[in-house]
Amino acid sequence: MSAQPIAAVILAAGQGTRMKSTKHKVLHPLAGQPMLFHLLDSLSAANVTRRVVIVGAVGEQVEAAVAGREVEIAWQREQLGTAHAALQAKDTLADHDGIVLVCFGDTPLLSADTVARLAARLGDADQPMVAVLGFRPPQAAAYGRIIADDAGNIAKMVEFEDATADERAVNLCNSGVTAVRSADLWPLLERVGNANAAGEYYLPDIVMLAIADGRGAVVIETGADEVAGINSRAELAAVEAAWQDKRRARAMADGVTLVAPDTVFFAHDTQLGRDVTIEPNVVFGPGVTVADDVVIHAFSHLEGAAVATKADVGPYARLRPGAMLGEGSRVGNFVEVKNTTLGKGAKANHLTYLGDASVGADVNIGAGTITCNYDGFFKYRTEIGAGAFIGSNSALVAPVKIGDGALVAAGSVVTRDVAADALALVRAERADHPGWAMRFRNKQKAAKAAKK
Ligand code: UD1
Ligand code: MG
Repeated sequence: MSAQPIAAVILAAGQGTRMKSTKHKVLHPLAGQPMLFHLLDSLSAANVTRRVVIVGAVGEQVEAAVAGREVEIAWQREQLGTAHAALQAKDTLADHDGIVLVCFGDTPLLSADTVARLAARLGDADQPMVAVLGFRPPQAAAYGRIIADDAGNIAKMVEFEDATADERAVNLCNSGVTAVRSADLWPLLERVGNANAAGEYYLPDIVMLAIADGRGAVVIETGADEVAGINSRAELAAVEAAWQDKRRARAMADGVTLVAPDTVFFAHDTQLGRDVTIEPNVVFGPGVTVADDVVIHAFSHLEGAAVATKADVGPYARLRPGAMLGEGSRVGNFVEVKNTTLGKGAKANHLTYLGDASVGADVNIGAGTITCNYDGFFKYRTEIGAGAFIGSNSALVAPVKIGDGALVAAGSVVTRDVAADALALVRAERADHPGWAMRFRNKQKAAKAAKK
């Protein structure tokens, strides 16, 4: 069988009313990226060559979100049903000769393997006209039912509202994901009517039309988790939880120690090396790469950060976008790092803000050091040379450079560059007044006693 090109039509014109949101349903994030992007990523992994998203209400939000991705948009101005929605891709895909896969934007966990399996089913010896992805949920509820024999040949598909009691008792349900060759799909969709309980043009009706034409329709099955649809915030949370569970299992299978797996949250693109240890209550935002042998202590939050091998992070560390931690470096408790490179073996162990800075190898940043990188209008850089020592409670007022091996005395406010190997001591002169405190105390005590 020669592989035919696959185009995907992603239905997302529904109102998503149950989300109670001004944000389009498919743009709600799952594992740190819009749920739609999970589906787009799976489709790409399955070598789907074109992706058309059908939008309606607040469709311009989707249009803006997918800008820069290879995604085409088609509008369904009135939501007349899933068959009508799919048909809106006809003009956009006029020059596509191959398989068309129809799927739903709110079903984000569909895997690349399943997409490939469903598309390949059309090429099997029995040459079915339509291949539908079915599943058996624990509660079949209001899903459309698939009446099929044991070999997966479909006799009928029926929406819950239109189904008889016997049909409702069938637990094989329609996920909505459907594969049809382009030459077959458009004529089939144009023949679908809306004489049913909802008065809608149902996509599953193309199955009955295919059967009436003497060409078969088949179902292949997948797990219920993979085709869980998201219609409410509660379902979004449930799908997020399922996604996280799977990701945690994968991390551990890949050689990562999770002390309390249920308390660690990953993003869609988190990359972890081997022998990484992650303590409880760690959250990964998007864009984090962690190399081998790193320890991330409890209650740390990482986003857009790259952590090199043997680095040690937290507890209570915050790595923000552009944090690049060198080999064996150390970022300790209540330290925030943003757009900053930490050299090999550099340390910022306590209570520090490093923003828009480069910190050389083996630098020691004392407790309470702050890079003052912002004047309310612009951001400025701080450069700290290799081997420098920044004393505790120093403010480095950017733009400023601290030379290699320089020493900044504790409590300094550094506004000018410090030469390599120099000491910068920025403190008011100390004045000692022997006995002054005792005299003051005695005077005040007497004054207070006189008032009683
Ligand atoms: C649909 C299926 C049902 C299946 C279920 C799986 C039909 C008629 N029914 O039912 O068999 O078990 O999904 O979740 O296909 N959409 C549009 N335009 C429209 C209508 C819908 O773009 O005019 C989009 C929605 O945004 C959504 C998807 O199509 O992404 C499915 O629509 P929905 O209304 O949720 O269909 P269900 O009633 O759940
Ligand atoms: Mg639905």
